Amino acid sequence: MGEPIEIVLNGARRRLDGVSPAMTLLDWLRGPARLTGTKEGCAEGDCGACTVLVDRLPVNACLAVVGQMHGRVIHTVEGLRGADGAPHPVQRALAESDGTQCGFCTPGIVMSAVAFGCGGEEPTPETIHDALAGNLCRCTGYRPIVEAVARCARSPEPLPPAPAVPIDHEARTFDGPTILHAPRALAELLRLRAEHPDAWLLAGGTDLGVRVSHDREVPGRVIHVVGVPELNGLAAHPDRIEIGAATTYQRLLPILTNHVPPFAEMIRRLGSRQIRSMGTIGGNLGTASPIGDTSPVLLALGATLHLASIRGRRAVAIDDFFLGYRETALAPDEVIVSIDMRLPSADEIFHVDKVSKRRDQDISAVLGAYKLGMVDGIVREARLAYGGMAAIPARAPHAEATLAGAPWTEATVERAVAALARDFEPLDDWRASAEYRLMVAGNLLRRLYLRSAGVAAELDAL
Ligand SMILES: Cc1cc2nc3c(=O)[nH]c(=O)nc-3n(C[C@H](O)[C@H](O)[C@H](O)COP(=O)(O)OP(=O)(O)OC[C@H]3O[C@@H](n4cnc5c(N)ncnc54)[C@H](O)[C@@H]3O)c2cc1C
Ligand code: FES
Ligand code: FES
Repeated sequence: MGEPIEIVLNGARRRLDGVSPAMTLLDWLRGPARLTGTKEGCAEGDCGACTVLVDRLPVNACLAVVGQMHGRVIHTVEGLRGADGAPHPVQRALAESDGTQCGFCTPGIVMSAVAFGCGGEEPTPETIHDALAGNLCRCTGYRPIVEAVARCARSPEPLPPAPAVPIDHEARTFDGPTILHAPRALAELLRLRAEHPDAWLLAGGTDLGVRVSHDREVPGRVIHVVGVPELNGLAAHPDRIEIGAATTYQRLLPILTNHVPPFAEMIRRLGSRQIRSMGTIGGNLGTASPIGDTSPVLLALGATLHLASIRGRRAVAIDDFFLGYRETALAPDEVIVSIDMRLPSADEIFHVDKVSKRRDQDISAVLGAYKLGMVDGIVREARLAYGGMAAIPARAPHAEATLAGAPWTEATVERAVAALARDFEPLDDWRASAEYRLMVAGNLLRRLYLRSAGVAAELDAL
């Protein structure tokens, strides 16, 4: 018999009796909890109508399952009402600025705006747009919404306080009909993985959650990894960063901003704030998607992945991790524990370019990441890695060989651009044609050269 899932909802402790741990948070809110303010639009993380706050961060309730919410503090739009029943300042500002018409998107926008206020950020056009990038509004137009958020970003936000006695975070198993294990130690996680190699290994659920919410799959068994401390380490050393596999993008951003700004800049364009609150770097590698955004960056930086199973631990160079389309070197009983990422040094050129149809909240058509070791204008070592150019995220060996040992000049770059055609037969799909991707990859290399030659500011302004 499983244990009950407990959450703190709008300031009150709630026990979810008789609820399957694989039910989405959105279905539970709108169904058994009878809180229908939170809306369902797309059911796949794109529209933000289902935004709620989890531990004060914006989250897509359609992608989260209730089993992963145990012990978390959740606020929905119903919980924003003041003690006197008055609307929240954000709600008032949206109404007064004509920031709502049909109102379908409004609860999600309100929650994103409240999360923005909770974060205490400086309200600038950039930060407000970023805060709202995961929320679609189809009828009002964004100007009044942005104005409303700017007006009330600094107003005190009356979120109900959490109960004084927090819910314990002991290891748990929830069941009915899905069984969800929430281990709290690596040994326990590895034992469960060995016993249940077919179980879903769940981290943030921003990828797996789509299968539940949109595709209506019901997993038989799930192992939720984020409560394991060994998967949550995050440490910066002078020459490298160790990142636990369950580290969310939200947690990763400050350390990357300090140590690898081009990587941070790319992460700011990965999904939306809702996705970055929950999505993890280990989950991104685990999907083995050819358009997963962190993989080319880690390939360019020559990262090492630390894997573990009950048979022991091993380190795998990221170059050896992706074997084929959605296929990795992970054995059925293994998990990714951490990622060891060497930082670029001062004499290395390092950059990342993401090209997508929309700037925000869009999957890459092509992502290029490059690290060039330079000595006196000669390329000592080149690592060029791309997403969207093959069935797996991959390096460009011919282009790299063309660059290595050559002077970093326009002529060398043109030879490397030509070599890219021997490295890749790019993906050809509705997102981008093969011809377009190859042309973009070459142009990104030219852009890298121009950037290093000091033409960057003009280019980046385009
Ligand atoms: C709206 C939307 C926008 C998105 N935008 C982007 C984007 O711009 N760029 C991008 O790259 N991705 C994007 N994604 C995909 C997704 O958010 C990322 O891949 C994310 O990093 C997945 O992490 P997660 O923790 O949510 O993974 P989960 O969904 O929990 O798991 C994903 C996979 O990884 C495996 N896994 C998780 N942890 C481990 C581990 N420790 N060891 C072994 N396997 C593990 C799981 O078993 C599963 O197969 C988007 C998704 C959505 C819904
Ligand atoms: S319903 Fe669209 S993001 Fe959840
Ligand atoms: S007000 Fe109608 S979708 Fe935004």
